[in-house]
Amino acid sequence: MQAFGIDIGGSGIKGAPVDVASGRLLAERKKILTPHPSTPEAVADVVREVARSFGWKGATGITFPGVVSGGTIRTAANVDKSWIGTDAARLFGTAIGGDVTVLNDADAAGIAEMMFGAGKGERGTVLMLTFGTGIGSALFTGGLLVPNTEFGHLEIRGKDAESRASERGKTEHEWGWKEWAQRVSEYIQHVEALLSPDLIIVGGGISKEAEKWVPLLEGVHARIVPATLHNEAGIVGAAVAATGMATTRTTHAGAEASVAAAGAAVGGE
Ligand code: BGC
Repeated sequence: MQAFGIDIGGSGIKGAPVDVASGRLLAERKKILTPHPSTPEAVADVVREVARSFGWKGATGITFPGVVSGGTIRTAANVDKSWIGTDAARLFGTAIGGDVTVLNDADAAGIAEMMFGAGKGERGTVLMLTFGTGIGSALFTGGLLVPNTEFGHLEIRGKDAESRASERGKTEHEWGWKEWAQRVSEYIQHVEALLSPDLIIVGGGISKEAEKWVPLLEGVHARIVPATLHNEAGIVGAAVAATGMATTRTTHAGAEASVAAAGAAVGGE
C-alpha cells in the first residue's frame, strides 16, 4: 500500500510517495524551501507543488511543526502566527484535491521510528526527541502515541527549552559539540525527571552526526539511541498516518502486522 507524505519544516517542505508496509520512499523526495513569511496560503502553494511534482492523487499525510488537533492548528512557535486556528486539513485538502491527514511533525517522526526504525518492537515508555529549528517530542507507551506533547517548550533556567538546546541554537550561537551536548544533557535530565522513559530516540537532521554528541550526553538513565530514518522520518510517519494505520501493534507483532491492521486510527486501536 502506498501513501504520500509531506513534512513541513522550518527550513524546507519535503515530500515523497511511501510504501507504508516497508517505510521506504518510492521515489527521491522533493524539497522546496519553506516560504517566508510562512503563511497558510504560501505554505499551501508549496504543498500543492510538491504533490503535483509526483502527479499524486490519493491518501496524503502532512506534518506541521505545532499542535494539531482534529486537523486544526493550535500553536505555531516557528512558523507564521496566522496558522493558529487554521483548519489545515481543509486548506491542504483543497490545495491538493483529496483527503488529507495533518499531524504534529515530531509525532509523525515518532510513528515512523516506532514502526520501522530505532523504536521498532520497543515496549514501555519511549520518548522521541527531534532537534532542529525547535525541539519536537513524541511520547509512546505500550506502542500508543500520546499526541502533541510539546516537551520542547519546557522551561529550563527560565527559558524555553528549545531556545537552549535546539540545533538552531547550536548553529546560531556557534556552540561546539561539547557545549551543546551539555545543554542537551540538562534538557534530557529534566524530561527524564518528569517521565522516566525506558528509551529515548534522538532525531532531527543532527541525528546523522549522532556519534559526535550522543556519547557526550551525561546523567541520563534511559537508553539513548539515534533515530535511523533521519530526515525521512516525518515523510514516512505522515504517509502512515494518512492510511489510518495504528502504531499500537508494532510492540507486539511487528511492523508488518501493524501495517496489515488497516482502519485503526493513529494511536488508537
Ligand atoms: C513546536 C512543536 C514541533 C517542534 C519541532 C516546536 O517549536 O512547538 O510542535 O514539533 O517545534 O518542529
